Amino acid sequence: MAKGRPSTAFFCNECGYESSKWMGQCPACKAWNTFVEEPVTKTAQSGRSSVRRDAIPEPVSVSAVSTGTILRFSAGMSELDRVLGGGIVPGSLVLVGGDPGIGKSTLLLQVCRNISRDGHKVLYISGEESLAQIKMRAMRIGDFDDKAQLLCETDLTAIGEVIRKQRPEAVVIDSIQTMYSQDVTSAPGSVSQVREATNTLMMIAKREGITIFIVGHVTKEGTVAGPRVLEHMVDTVIYFEGDRYNSYRIVRAVKNRFGSTNEIGVFEMAGEGLREVLNPSEYMLSGRPKDSSGSCVVCAMEGTRPMLVEVQALLCRSNFGIPRRQATGTDLNRVNLLMAVLEKRMGLKMGECDAYVNVAGGMKMNEPATDLGIALAVVSSFQNAAIPEDVVAFGEIGLSGEVRSVTNAQSRVAEAAKLGFKRIIIPAGNAAGLDAPASAKIIPIENLADAIRVLS
Ligand code: TYD
Ligand code: MG
Repeated sequence: MAKGRPSTAFFCNECGYESSKWMGQCPACKAWNTFVEEPVTKTAQSGRSSVRRDAIPEPVSVSAVSTGTILRFSAGMSELDRVLGGGIVPGSLVLVGGDPGIGKSTLLLQVCRNISRDGHKVLYISGEESLAQIKMRAMRIGDFDDKAQLLCETDLTAIGEVIRKQRPEAVVIDSIQTMYSQDVTSAPGSVSQVREATNTLMMIAKREGITIFIVGHVTKEGTVAGPRVLEHMVDTVIYFEGDRYNSYRIVRAVKNRFGSTNEIGVFEMAGEGLREVLNPSEYMLSGRPKDSSGSCVVCAMEGTRPMLVEVQALLCRSNFGIPRRQATGTDLNRVNLLMAVLEKRMGLKMGECDAYVNVAGGMKMNEPATDLGIALAVVSSFQNAAIPEDVVAFGEIGLSGEVRSVTNAQSRVAEAAKLGFKRIIIPAGNAAGLDAPASAKIIPIENLADAIRVLS
């Protein structure tokens, strides 16, 4: 790269991978057709730079560092606080990613309302909507305190000045793809702009001790850089998931420097913004069919939270030579494997059947503990025999048809009993030392044959 000449490089819009030439597929994230050409403004400096002798930093030992106490403040929604690791950490940079229209702006405007009511000054900066549009959304959400301020701006230099002058405790940037820095020549939404903008915001967050929430759209078309480009730069990454056509939304932490990434928060999009779903099991099981074959309730763990979900299976005779197998919300390979185990170990001849397995409510579950529930739903549909509605089952199935123990059996059992289930089928290995609830019967089983016998 010759010095002084303006040069360009190719960047992957998905993950930010940099290359000197165009490529059809990104070698890093395997996405197709995501490379765009952008000017490179900052070249690495050649030659050795030196530090003044009296300014050489001094390392310290781990034991000498005191953490102080991190004073987190609440987002006013326990579901979100849990995902953030117990509240908002001052001075942290939080990326909120998700598909357009999923509810990111709504969630963050609600956070602004809640924390401003608790006496914190917040600034909501939008590069996408006009003040009137934000006001219309705000009116649906409720009354706002004067400590919540709005600003429509996309120039980062101006934003930096406003933040320094106003000194809010929290700032929302909606969205990072609309922000631009004058130092970078490429268009807003490009990989270099998004990176530079995040860098600037990180500097502000750390220096001033302000929490900054950054909204990042996940885009399918690849016209703007996606949030994955900045995942490594921020402290916390949370993704908003859910079906646009389904009202419930799940907030999941995929990276958290201040807490666990196991936690999820469940929300429901209502007429007046997002509502917390404090009892997701009840929500997921609502509308469950009665006395219908091919339905089994399982208890999956989402982080440290047990969640009851209905697994449905439908088996019918295949009209073509090769049976169709489909899985929604769970892994198709796992379903195929479980059906092979049922066929070989239980002698159920399902080879001529199309099979459809669906996790009701649009949840995604890939936990081995749901194996038993999937297998029982498949058998129930195959034999056209309904599983009683007061039954919950969980356990991992091995290739010999044995049911193996799973983690967190106690909290799964407690959740099932809490929701009024009377019979809980669990792996025998989990039965020892289990605190059985008074209202439900625990049925320990060794293998699939036991489970099917118990239900027949
Ligand atoms: P929005 O927060 O604008 O999504 P994003 O910022 O992620 O693009 O969400 C908009 C959707 O939510 C829109 O389809 C309307 C719906 N909505 C409600 O159903 N109820 C409400 O109270 C609000 C504010 C929005
Ligand atoms: Mg928005």
